[in-house]
Amino acid sequence: MHRFVIACLTLAAAACAGAAPAPVFLPRPVQVTPAKGSFEVGPATRGAVDDAQDPELRRIAEAWAAPLRNATGWALPVEPGPCAKNAICARVSGTGDAEGYRLGIGGDSVVVAGADHAGVFYGFQTLSQTFPPLLHGDAPIRLAGLDVTDAPRFPYRGMHLDVGRHFFGPDFVKRYIDQLAHYKINRFHWHLTEDQGWRIEIKRYPRLTEVGAWRAETMVEKNFDPFVGDGTRYGGFYTQDEIRDIVAYARERYVTIVPEIEMPGHSLAALASYPELACTPGPFEVGTQWGVFEDIYCPREETFEFLENVLTEVMELFPGQYIHIGGDEAPKARWDASDVAQEVMRREGLADAHELQSWFVQRIERFLNEHGRRLIGWDEILEGGLAPNATVMSWRGTEGGIEAARQGHDVVMTPTSHLYFDFYQGDAEHEPLAIGGYLPLERVYSFEPVPSQLTTDEARHILGAQGNLWTEYIPSEEHAEYMAFPRALALSEVTWSSAASRDFLDFARRLPWHLQRLDAQGVRYRIPDVVGLAGDRLTLDKKVDVSLEAPADGTIRYTLDGTEPTPASPAYQRPLEVDVEREPVTVAARIVLRDGRAGPVRRATFSRATVRPAALVDAVLEAGLRVDLFRGAFRRVADLERRGQSPVRTEPTEAVVLPEWATDEEFGLRFRGYLDVPGDGVYSFRLTSDDGAVLRFAGTTILDHDGLHGASSKEGQVALARGLHPFEVLYFQAGGGKTLHLEWAAPEGAFTAVDAATVLRIR
Ligand code: ACM
Repeated sequence: MHRFVIACLTLAAAACAGAAPAPVFLPRPVQVTPAKGSFEVGPATRGAVDDAQDPELRRIAEAWAAPLRNATGWALPVEPGPCAKNAICARVSGTGDAEGYRLGIGGDSVVVAGADHAGVFYGFQTLSQTFPPLLHGDAPIRLAGLDVTDAPRFPYRGMHLDVGRHFFGPDFVKRYIDQLAHYKINRFHWHLTEDQGWRIEIKRYPRLTEVGAWRAETMVEKNFDPFVGDGTRYGGFYTQDEIRDIVAYARERYVTIVPEIEMPGHSLAALASYPELACTPGPFEVGTQWGVFEDIYCPREETFEFLENVLTEVMELFPGQYIHIGGDEAPKARWDASDVAQEVMRREGLADAHELQSWFVQRIERFLNEHGRRLIGWDEILEGGLAPNATVMSWRGTEGGIEAARQGHDVVMTPTSHLYFDFYQGDAEHEPLAIGGYLPLERVYSFEPVPSQLTTDEARHILGAQGNLWTEYIPSEEHAEYMAFPRALALSEVTWSSAASRDFLDFARRLPWHLQRLDAQGVRYRIPDVVGLAGDRLTLDKKVDVSLEAPADGTIRYTLDGTEPTPASPAYQRPLEVDVEREPVTVAARIVLRDGRAGPVRRATFSRATVRPAALVDAVLEAGLRVDLFRGAFRRVADLERRGQSPVRTEPTEAVVLPEWATDEEFGLRFRGYLDVPGDGVYSFRLTSDDGAVLRFAGTTILDHDGLHGASSKEGQVALARGLHPFEVLYFQAGGGKTLHLEWAAPEGAFTAVDAATVLRIR
């Protein structure tokens, strides 16, 4: 009672007082309208399900009532019957979009009406979000009257967990599923087999877990060369009983598990268990360091027999339609050198090892299809020809997804650029060791799963999106939660809510309630960054106003000299007036929560810029750019500019995009032309590339996104006068995924592609 009163005062005063609080719903529903009256939940409240013959409906209502009952001591009986006064009522309406629901909170009752059972479940999750985030005590809770109409934008809303690199036990997996389900994420992609560990019991092949689930040791940090191991045996696996239990647990929360059994690559743990599955005699050891290994399954008949037997047990355990077969990062060196593989290629008329992998995947697909299942794989399964019914998970950028959708295949978007939750979420110097990259919360939130290049028909193949949690550098449960949350909440809104309704600031303002909820659930999320310091900023003025917001329940502490704010630093009250006339100013800020926990520090430097004058161009211009192709193996943009390098081909192009004719595994590009700037101002640029790229204006580097990396973006600004500005983009592709986009934004404007409407070249 006492603690509840405190919660009312501090967290949900409006709800306690009976006034309408601003809804904190996350993901944001399709429609929320205030309604007359309010509803008091208290000791006399009952639960009513309208169909006595529907045990699932009753189970959903019971599952929702139980924690409230535990927290309050109220009876909250759930019984079949009509929706009477003072009741929370559940029914399946059978109308509306799949997984959709209506939630009505009004005078006499609360009604949760789902289009289907999943919809009822989701309606109850939304109802939970009208309560204070911390429930204890037994004072009645008054809910403001409102009507919610809701349904998801995408049918596939996924989160992934790699349990191969590090093992996460059944209790953790269930807790993870609890959080996904509350945020209406309905797919759990369980990455069960890896080079460094096989984690699923297969009765027919006991060595997979006797041998394959255990590695001798684990690499310390990034000590690849020379290798430094920790000397500690590591491993674990799920028994089939544990998996059945987790599958049932997920099903009760409307989460379908997509199990992944990697092939033909990432299979070292299986080869260590059964060396006869490889092309060379072995022996093999379960991986102790991270990376991509050349030892992969050999395409002989015995391998297919093994894989089909494994998949048969997998299909018995996992009832969902999709079976993920990996398909990524399978080097072809062993196949190129193998008589067995060469003989299969001759027999099947396959031109190269890519076609052999395609044949391999198609054969597995036939097997899965014959058993009523669908194959899903990483975007490498496009290489050498896509299996006829396959769904593609696009991870090396969105290009694979675009290509697959154009070929009429279903796609789940999970690009490194926005959805790799193993990437850093802050300054690498101050974050726990991560695989690389930079993926702050706002960038996840900005992801649009449907690429603008697709037609409406093609776009129908985009089933949704998924956040991936690879765990090479995530050894503990606490760390996994730190990486997953709150980024998974941004993903929830990306996949559930309409594109038009998305608004990061609004999301950030709803977050505090959810972080308190996560606290109550014991989830060790990362305290988010202060909002308002997303990158360095230029201004043409002497002063700038810097507005900050705290997306967590606490105080913003800041400094104006870039030093680390402490709990004793000034508390942010109103927009900071920052004087940049004489020198740049670095604002550093962090959130200090009410309980004293301090969040990470965000910094941004504000500088006064002088506009770069436009160029005088004495030549006939036409729309577009010119692009030069360089041949060679490049590891940095500077490699393109080595003395003596000259382009092997030069073509006109519309925009800064990869030309269709640049098909080599490795190459370099240089785009050149003029940007037509409509007025004096500070312009923002965003360069997305895989691998490195740089943007230069009149020889000055504005964006340096150089080096070997996956698809990721870098943003920067430059002040430009109205008129023409010569610029160039240099890019190299060093194998694997390839991506290149350049976007820009006018002062206060939104990002759009730098395209033929805004660029000119000398005719
Ligand atoms: C992947 O990240 N290798 C799919």
